[in-house]
Amino acid sequence: MSRSAHPAGPRHADVLPDPPPAPPQADANALDPAIWPVTACRDGGVLHLGGAAVPDLVGRHGTPALFLDEADLRARARAFATAAAGVDVFYAGKAFLCTTVATWVAQEGLGLDVCTGGELAVARAAGFPPERIALHGNNKAVGELQHAVLAGVGRVVLDSFEEIRRAADVASAAGIRQPVLVRVTVGVEAHTHEFIATAHEDQKFGFSLRDGAAEEAVAAVLDSPALELAGLHSHIGSQIFDTAGFEVAAGRVVSLAARIRDLHGIEIPEIDLGGGFGIAYVAGDDPEPPRQTVERLVGIVAQECARAGLPVPRIAIEPGRAIVGPAMVTVYEVGTVKPVELDHGMVRTYVSVDGGMSDNIRTALYDAQYTCVLAGRESDAAAVLCRVVGKHCESGDIVVRDAWLPGDVRPGDLLAVAATGAYCRSMASNYNHVPRPPVVAVRDGADTVILRRETVEDLLRLDAGVDRG
Ligand code: LLP
Repeated sequence: MSRSAHPAGPRHADVLPDPPPAPPQADANALDPAIWPVTACRDGGVLHLGGAAVPDLVGRHGTPALFLDEADLRARARAFATAAAGVDVFYAGKAFLCTTVATWVAQEGLGLDVCTGGELAVARAAGFPPERIALHGNNKAVGELQHAVLAGVGRVVLDSFEEIRRAADVASAAGIRQPVLVRVTVGVEAHTHEFIATAHEDQKFGFSLRDGAAEEAVAAVLDSPALELAGLHSHIGSQIFDTAGFEVAAGRVVSLAARIRDLHGIEIPEIDLGGGFGIAYVAGDDPEPPRQTVERLVGIVAQECARAGLPVPRIAIEPGRAIVGPAMVTVYEVGTVKPVELDHGMVRTYVSVDGGMSDNIRTALYDAQYTCVLAGRESDAAAVLCRVVGKHCESGDIVVRDAWLPGDVRPGDLLAVAATGAYCRSMASNYNHVPRPPVVAVRDGADTVILRRETVEDLLRLDAGVDRG
């Protein structure tokens, strides 16, 4: 229901229909290692991250704040980078990007996928090697293309016929032969939320295989002396657990590569299968380890190439969520606790925290599920069904729809929400003029602000009507 547009008015007060409440966790204080960052542990009941006690971190940085476990992020990046030979891994910066994280992923041997001039500017500010940057986007402005081409980015992923012409003009004016990939719509709908499935036909990305657009796009690139066809690209969605979608996608991209060889007598050097690898948000989510996923993709492409009589090209992937998602934890302070009796006699305890949909829109937007625990203490009080909500002026401002928290949860408690690294801070807004929270890296007991907290002054600075005397 939350996914459909609704007329302004009555639905603003509605909350989503109740899913059946999740069963109580065996232990409301427990930290499931599949969900929490690698360094998360309890010491004396207190949650520690990166060797630091969360209450101490909060004392220095306030709430809400996102804490990023550097060791966790680096290990995940490395696991992808070293999973298989012949595979280029591009970190998808849209999941979360700042110069520090760009530097870490460069150090771990990854490339970087950016999809706007803004993300490209962060990559450049970090000194990210331009030849390892890929520029995406379905509507790149001429200025963004110029920025990318002049910076020497390794590849531009082309998404429309207008863009092929624009990129060719920009590259030719710069006297550069720009390597490009052609983004193909393979007609696969991955098993994921409809808002984040991108390769079925009825959507804005890529060139369709079905109507011959992909072949025409390849021909247009080959006709442009300023463009070099570096490969084919496909991205089928996000938060995918079932690799069957990748299998179909790879098969279709390889078939296109075979037709291109037959038509033009050239071999495609690289096939990029995009990102989308799922992570665990709640108990029972069971993603495959990166090595297994990458090996499977390599196997699929090799098999499809053998069938088509093609040499195996280089393979690229673009994980975002699977690298940064589990590495971050958002810590809030509880402000109010309000038990509400439901129609069927159940009680739901509304726990209001000092952030909400401005720092995590995913619950409202995608019905995302999260796991949370008390961070400042353990409690053996019996767990009660809670809904963690924010401080924004709408009922859909939900952070964790169903959370079993100790029944003595109270104002002043610190609440940690796991797996908030991807698409939380990067999709944060200033709704209700709430400043966006900081990101603090933690490692070996040391904490470093890598993105500072926004202030109300930052927001007022944009307001041209403020009298600055
Ligand atoms: N490559 C391309 C071309 C993409 O469009 C994306 C994500 C990725 C790679 C990285 O996907 P990942 O590995 O992070 O799943 N805001 C949504 C997710 C949108 C994904 C957009 N594209 C969410 O919060 O779930």
